[in-house]
Amino acid sequence: QDPRIEGIAASIRVVPDFPKKGIMFQDITTLLLDPKTFKNTVDLFVERYLGKDISVVAGIEARGFIFGPPIALAIGAKFIPLRKPRKLPGEVISEKYVLEYGTDCLEMHVGAVQPGDHALVVDDLIATGGTLCAAMNLLERAGAEVVECACVIELPELKGREKLNGKPLYILVESR
Ligand code: PRP
Ligand code: MG
Repeated sequence: QDPRIEGIAASIRVVPDFPKKGIMFQDITTLLLDPKTFKNTVDLFVERYLGKDISVVAGIEARGFIFGPPIALAIGAKFIPLRKPRKLPGEVISEKYVLEYGTDCLEMHVGAVQPGDHALVVDDLIATGGTLCAAMNLLERAGAEVVECACVIELPELKGREKLNGKPLYILVESR
């Protein structure tokens, strides 16, 4: 295992019973407080995707907006924000999904993706996998090919990976 992973794992604060009883909240704001650790996190993704012909990095609101853009800049891909409802001013396509706590919806601007785009989906964490699944559906409906999903943290007990229809998922840290 890459020696940088340990520092990344150690920098994530786990907050029990937030935002609801029984949820072990994985707080990446503590990772962001250490520039070296934040850089290591971005670098590990960049090392994996540089030169892999990815034309789009799609980041999921809100925490995918933290890790997605530095990856996009470093690999020379466009960045597309996948936003919560009623935030984007242009024409959108939407996907509803079920979350660990509640339901939600993601929207993407029509025209952001071109058919033939190769997309990487970035978020901070996969729990049940519903969010990444909705993100992939949006991109594929618009004609992009999703190459992989990338998250900092996986909660393997929730088996979200099984919801991704075999699409590869790359993660840095597993949390229990
Ligand atoms: C959290 C997390 C992922 C999603 C994972 O986001 O940042 O995006 O849940 O859950 P899933 O795999 O069960 O779908 P959340 O919707 O809480 O909002 P935020 O990123 O805007 O804080
Ligand atoms: Mg999120």
